[in-house]
Amino acid sequence: LLTGATGFLGIHLLAELLDKTEANIYCLIRDKSLEKAQAKIYQKLKTFQLWDEHKSSRIIPVIGDLSQKRLGMCEPDFLELAEQIDVIYHNGAWVNAIYPYSMLKPANVLGTEEILRLACLIKTKPVHFVSTISVFSPSYAQGNLIQESDPLGMNHGLNAGYTQSKWVAEKLIMEARKRGLPITIFRASRIIGHSKTGICNTEDLFCRMIKGCIQLGMIPDFGDSTEDLTPVDYVSGAIVHLA
Ligand SMILES: NC(=O)c1ccc[n+]([C@@H]2O[C@H](COP(=O)([O-])OP(=O)(O)OC[C@H]3O[C@@H](n4cnc5c(N)ncnc54)[C@H](OP(=O)(O)O)[C@@H]3O)[C@@H](O)[C@H]2O)c1
Repeated sequence: LLTGATGFLGIHLLAELLDKTEANIYCLIRDKSLEKAQAKIYQKLKTFQLWDEHKSSRIIPVIGDLSQKRLGMCEPDFLELAEQIDVIYHNGAWVNAIYPYSMLKPANVLGTEEILRLACLIKTKPVHFVSTISVFSPSYAQGNLIQESDPLGMNHGLNAGYTQSKWVAEKLIMEARKRGLPITIFRASRIIGHSKTGICNTEDLFCRMIKGCIQLGMIPDFGDSTEDLTPVDYVSGAIVHLA
């Protein structure tokens, strides 16, 4: 099961999973009908030049919403899904730099809780969780190389609701790992366009900032700070390879 397959990273994860595995990929999509959900996935694959007709029969849309109990499914459907799938890539999230924690919590935190519930139901399914390096506050990260083994302590200074929601989601994921669920956490830094086609998410914060700079003919003075940029195909390739 892949969540967030219609998103920027998700569509590249879908293409990578189709390419590197033989598995059927169940994609959790919030839409009204399976036909519309399928059309949405196909359209996204085409937009990002990832479409491959021969692999399309292995894409199985599932209607669901992360912010709802049992992902918005009735109990029999939730149980059936729990039985069908073998592994979960939980990549879906409400990625928003403005809204407060309270608004993002249902999708990002409670959605993760529902994913963990699904992972434990009927048979144990490993969970690969896509997170962000921003769960470490800028004051913690400053001048330090963040190690994978660094504890996710009380991160004072996480001011954005989005990073707070990812921090809490990671804490839930870690608790599940402590209780025996096989878990991997992938913390991406800022994801940019494809290394070969250059196709990027023109709606994200970084693209909008570049666009704003061009329109203004100016750039902000960032001082000494640097941006860590990773091409989307590198991120999706690394996640599937490591998983
Ligand atoms: N982009 C970055 O620079 C970056 C950096 C570090 C980590 N990440 C992480 O990477 C993951 C993907 O990010 P992205 O940039 O690809 O985001 P994105 O383009 O905004 O995609 C988000 C995906 O999540 C889905 N989603 C959101 N709310 C949902 C809900 N309530 N129920 C079901 N699906 C829902 C969206 O579905 P719809 O199509 O229906 O909206 C979409 O498919 C996230 O976990 C994010 O935290 C991203």
